[in-house]
Amino acid sequence: MKIDILLGLQWGDEGKGKIVDAISPDYDIIARFQGGPNAGHSLEFNNVKHVLHLIPSGIFHPDKLNIIGNGVVIDPAVFKTEIVGLGPAVDELAKRLIISTKANLILPSHRILDAAYECQNGLIKIGSTLKGIGPAYTDKTSRNGLRVGDILRKDFRKLYDIHLKRHLNILKNYDLKYNLDEYEKGWFEGIEMLKNFRIVNTEYLVNELAGSGKRVLAEGAQGTMLDIDFGSYPFVTSSNTISAGACTGLGISPKLIGEIFGIFKAYCTRVGSGPFPTELEDETGASLRDIGREFGSTTGRPRRCGWLDLPALKYSIMINGVTRLFMTKADVMSGFKTIKICTSYKVDGKECLEIPFDKDSIIEPVYTELAGWQEDISGIKEFIKLPDSLKKFVEFIEKQTGVPVTLVSVGPDREETIFRT
Ligand code: GDP
Ligand code: IMO
Ligand code: MG
Repeated sequence: MKIDILLGLQWGDEGKGKIVDAISPDYDIIARFQGGPNAGHSLEFNNVKHVLHLIPSGIFHPDKLNIIGNGVVIDPAVFKTEIVGLGPAVDELAKRLIISTKANLILPSHRILDAAYECQNGLIKIGSTLKGIGPAYTDKTSRNGLRVGDILRKDFRKLYDIHLKRHLNILKNYDLKYNLDEYEKGWFEGIEMLKNFRIVNTEYLVNELAGSGKRVLAEGAQGTMLDIDFGSYPFVTSSNTISAGACTGLGISPKLIGEIFGIFKAYCTRVGSGPFPTELEDETGASLRDIGREFGSTTGRPRRCGWLDLPALKYSIMINGVTRLFMTKADVMSGFKTIKICTSYKVDGKECLEIPFDKDSIIEPVYTELAGWQEDISGIKEFIKLPDSLKKFVEFIEKQTGVPVTLVSVGPDREETIFRT
């Protein structure tokens, strides 16, 4: 059976957690392929909101298998807190969650290094979540990483100490006060927690399961515009958030990929620094933030808000090979008299459809204005019953991108989802 991918097309927080949870009934396995505890994936059902950072968003479906793939970086302390917060007993969760031997570990000193790099940058502040993501992926690619499979080795503590010493040497160059003991205690408790779970070469498992007809959904984190290669570098995360990342982050061939679901908000948000062409630093932006409750799921930071950016969306569709679009937060747009969509940019005064390489380019969005809709749409279950102007908004996006919008989300709850075939 082909493997489907669901990933973000904007700057993260598009609603991946909600939608993965909502479509999990169609799958047997949900597998996270990259990122780490920088992610915050929210989902709601029975009036309770859950936020996941490392654990795939299929975990609340008892009959589904969840996999943390090799492309993910795991902080054991965060993992333990998340497992304890989920509710079900550890041995129950251990039946539904499997972890790759090859997922790299975020060490306590990676978090300190993250803070050190962010402070010293001075000129460029990425606005990192400071979860140790950059330093952990750096150690992975420079072949200095520790992996989940290593925790089962007798000499694990010795290996840890070697890496810690190396990090402490680097930190001597930075004027940063830190308390390592505070992190280390929870981290080693997290290592013990990890040992309750099956730690296997998940690339064999995913291929075997897909080969035997099981349906696998690969869950992305962050968004395409935060991709290490194709995002607004250097204001990006440190992994490949795009569909190709599912292949490397799970150990699957591109030949195995089926549908590529690209998820986007009906507007745009961004947390942290970096270019954001359609950003609204006015009352409209503040309204989107208030109505959409746009505050980071991981750090609580207010999200920057702006109108939908089609050049960025089209770019993401191209890079990922998106086959279906899922639009979230349509309900947040209710009440605006008119709605703007950016259809092209003026870069340094000239009309341009491409995202410029130079992060310092002045990008001026060129807008098309559409009629808004006033109705509360959160209770609507069928596409046909949505206000005409919202249907026109969707049709406009489909026409511009050439990709069908087959799901519209009208609220944070699992049930507030309109499927359209
Ligand atoms: P993720 O990182 O892509 O999983 O997204 P987040 O969970 O960080 O942020 C999305 C936020 O929007 C969460 O608070 C969700 O509960 C909420 N959400 C998701 N879909 C909708 C929707 O259609 N309407 C509204 N109002 N909220 C939504
Ligand atoms: P989900 O999966 C939104 C942003 C940070 C920062 C930059 C680098 O919930 O969509 P990092 O911690 O990776 O060093 O931060 O990327 N960022 C996210 N923004 N959603 C996320 O994940 C993010 N993960 C990282 O704010 O600008
Ligand atoms: Mg999020």
